[in-house]
Amino acid sequence: MTTQFRVAVIGAGFMGSMHAAIFSREPRARLVAIVDRNLDLARSVAARLGEKVNVYASHEELLAAEQLDLVSICTPDHLHLRPALDIAAKGINLFVEKPIASTLEDGRKIVDACKQAGVKLGIGYLLRFDPRYYKARELMQTGKIGAPIHVYTRRNSARTEGPKRYGGTLPLALHVTVHDVDLVLWMLEGQTPVSVYAQQTDILLGSTGTQDTIAAVVRFSDGTLVNFESAWALPGGARHMIDARMELIGTEGSFEVQCGDSGLYFADNQASREIDTQHWPSFGDIIGGSLRQQLSSVLEWLDGKPSQVATGEEALRSLELTLAMIRSAESGTVEQL
Ligand SMILES: NC(=O)c1ccc[n+]([C@@H]2O[C@H](COP(=O)([O-])OP(=O)(O)OC[C@H]3O[C@@H](n4cnc5c(N)ncnc54)[C@H](O)[C@@H]3O)[C@@H](O)[C@H]2O)c1
Repeated sequence: MTTQFRVAVIGAGFMGSMHAAIFSREPRARLVAIVDRNLDLARSVAARLGEKVNVYASHEELLAAEQLDLVSICTPDHLHLRPALDIAAKGINLFVEKPIASTLEDGRKIVDACKQAGVKLGIGYLLRFDPRYYKARELMQTGKIGAPIHVYTRRNSARTEGPKRYGGTLPLALHVTVHDVDLVLWMLEGQTPVSVYAQQTDILLGSTGTQDTIAAVVRFSDGTLVNFESAWALPGGARHMIDARMELIGTEGSFEVQCGDSGLYFADNQASREIDTQHWPSFGDIIGGSLRQQLSSVLEWLDGKPSQVATGEEALRSLELTLAMIRSAESGTVEQL
């Protein structure tokens, strides 16, 4: 018989509302509660799910009222810490949206608290569940690529998207590049970054407190060179929603992951727009894509099955490298790691 885990979601915004919708349709989960300090938002997300889900305005109220197996934290990055520590202390497993926290200190506290309490901690690097990146990693693991020599990653999107939601609260690198940092560390298993040099611009978006673009070069312990490129500055009418790719050249072969094209475009007399078919596409009220695959895998992981979900320790490594990139871009000097 399938185990049903009692799940709650904290933060009912952009990501949390999708987590709640996914858990509410997962056979292995029973979504028992949604928490948001904006209680009306929690209520409206719960009402859309068409089943009885309790709502609370704080994680303290949640923990006082519910018996839980898993809590998914979808609050802004700098607000992951408090609920994570209290939930771990109660012996409840945790799934925390990337990048675990906005500082290494907070991230380390979350990892240590989960270790001490003996609970599982997964971090929301959903691109590990995109079949293209997964299959690319498989090529590396089967030896078809040989030893890696050079990697190039790109993640560029429109100024009308990310900067509007996260500008002024999050650096571009911590919101966007960190996804590719996680993927590269995952692909180059066993290698460690040794130095990073980065440059960034804020010509267009500086007044909104964020960066237009960041470019970084990272040297790894076995000599592999990685170029990271991310931009939030494409015009609103850009052809791609997220122009993302990864290319890896090795001693025996190479791979190229092309994510720029979702395969579905809508245009009317005013504008054209690409529609997501990859990350969290909706099929009526069911959400699919990499996000669903990831949360479903987390439930299997709780059930003792293997999962490629990013661990807390892995998230600390990607946070450390991304923060070093930002320091290098700000100082203009090479950061030794
Ligand atoms: N995996 C991805 O691709 C991806 C994409 C976007 C965002 N994220 C991450 O997801 C997380 C949430 O981002 P978002 O875009 O959904 O943010 P959001 O602003 O849309 O939602 C955050 C919600 O948290 C609530 N909140 C804040 N503090 C709270 C608290 N102490 N208790 C209860 N509720 C609280 C807010 O009221 C808000 O509704 C962030 O860590 C972000 O970096 C991940």
